[in-house]
Amino acid sequence: MKQRPPPFPLLLQLLFFFVAIAECGEGRSALSRRVGFRGGRASGDAAREASPTSGGRSLRFGKKGEFKILQVADMHYADGRETGCLDVFPDQLPTCSDLNTTAFIYRVIRAENPDLVVFTGDNIFALDSKDAAKSLDAAFAPAVELKLPWAAVLGNHDQEGTLSREGVMRHIVGMGHTLSQLNPSGMAIDGFGNYNLEISGTDGSTLANKSILNLYFVDSGDYSTVPAISGYGWIKPTQQFWFQQTSSRLQEKYKSKPSPQKDPAPGLVYFHIPLPEYSTFDASNFTGVKQEGISSASINSGFFTTMVEAGDVKAVFTGHDHLNDFCGKLTGIQLCYAGGFGYHAYGKAGWSRRARVVSAYLEKTVNGDWGGVKSIKTWKRLDDEYLSTIDNQVLWNKGSIGRRRRNDLPT
Ligand SMILES: *[C@@H]1O[C@H](CO)[C@@H](O)[C@H](O)[C@H]1NC(C)=O
Ligand SMILES: *[C@@H]1O[C@H](CO)[C@@H](O)[C@H](O)[C@H]1NC(C)=O
Ligand SMILES: *[C@@H]1O[C@H](CO)[C@@H](O)[C@H](O)[C@H]1NC(C)=O
Repeated sequence: MKQRPPPFPLLLQLLFFFVAIAECGEGRSALSRRVGFRGGRASGDAAREASPTSGGRSLRFGKKGEFKILQVADMHYADGRETGCLDVFPDQLPTCSDLNTTAFIYRVIRAENPDLVVFTGDNIFALDSKDAAKSLDAAFAPAVELKLPWAAVLGNHDQEGTLSREGVMRHIVGMGHTLSQLNPSGMAIDGFGNYNLEISGTDGSTLANKSILNLYFVDSGDYSTVPAISGYGWIKPTQQFWFQQTSSRLQEKYKSKPSPQKDPAPGLVYFHIPLPEYSTFDASNFTGVKQEGISSASINSGFFTTMVEAGDVKAVFTGHDHLNDFCGKLTGIQLCYAGGFGYHAYGKAGWSRRARVVSAYLEKTVNGDWGGVKSIKTWKRLDDEYLSTIDNQVLWNKGSIGRRRRNDLPT
């Protein structure tokens, strides 16, 4: 394993943060601009409400005690029917376009009926798009049309067309049925699309007014802007500071009255570029496949350590490397890829495009009510003839300690 520089010390992180605040002044009102809340899904299985303290929105577990999230990574959408496919068999080329990506989204949503869809970046391949706004509209259209709550983060290709990174994220937060947000209010932060979503306990249960599953969305950047460092971007100290504060505020709330809870509610983190720690695994300790290198930033900005310290994060979900689709557990945190979804993205002919599903299940309390999260499972859906389900595995069980165990392998 390559030697990596140590993460930024906390003192340095704090210094960065206060310098950023001081410099921020005028930009602040733009950053704190609130986005309009858009109304919801008819089914009522997942309710939503604005949460004034977090600037976040909340979702809710349904009566079945399950909350399901579909992750779509690397759609690489461009101009729809006019945009051809990469890495399919030669005889498939004439009939293959971005519309196959759209068809796959509809197909997997119909099969899984998720409560939330998360798009983890490279949503559009903007270099090949005539109009970034139109590409974004087309890429997210299935979630919008089906009135499904959805959230997105940026990859490294989303801004390579007619819109800047900020422009892309602003366009996204203005779309129908999205819960995406630009950035937290009243705080200087790097990137666009850093926010959290809170999922409350079932209506009528003791935990109805608490967030029992926390989702964090982070902008992992595009490319380094530091001349001495080459390669991809990374999660900056300001973002880590925001994450740290948000996590600790959520944990505080969860542990306080009414209905104080002992352990923190589990957290799941979504962004685009994998962390350097993704390369600590081999086939003996992950589920899924690794068919290409880990394209993380060339330096380690310490976000993994920050998450381990926070104590609530159970799993991280990225995209970026389309041919990798594994989950491996390191120091109590599952590091997962979704595998490539889009047909205008590089892939491998004969190796189906895919999506990752994550589902959280509640425990029953002594009085028969739904309680907090008991377990979190994941599997993948392939865009093959049967929409095959593969690599079903438990990511986390309540009460399980944070080290690697045999029973964390696929069930
Ligand atoms: C793309 O969609 C077309 C039209 O439905 C279909 O005929 C074709 O087989 C699909 N191609 C791939 C690679 O799935
Ligand atoms: C949750 O909040 C609602 C609305 O304020 C209230 O009616 C309900 O009793 C609360 N439930 C619990 C378990 O605290
Ligand atoms: C995975 O197993 C390899 C040995 O095959 C070991 O070197 C590596 O440290 C393990 N990684 C983790 C995260 O446990």
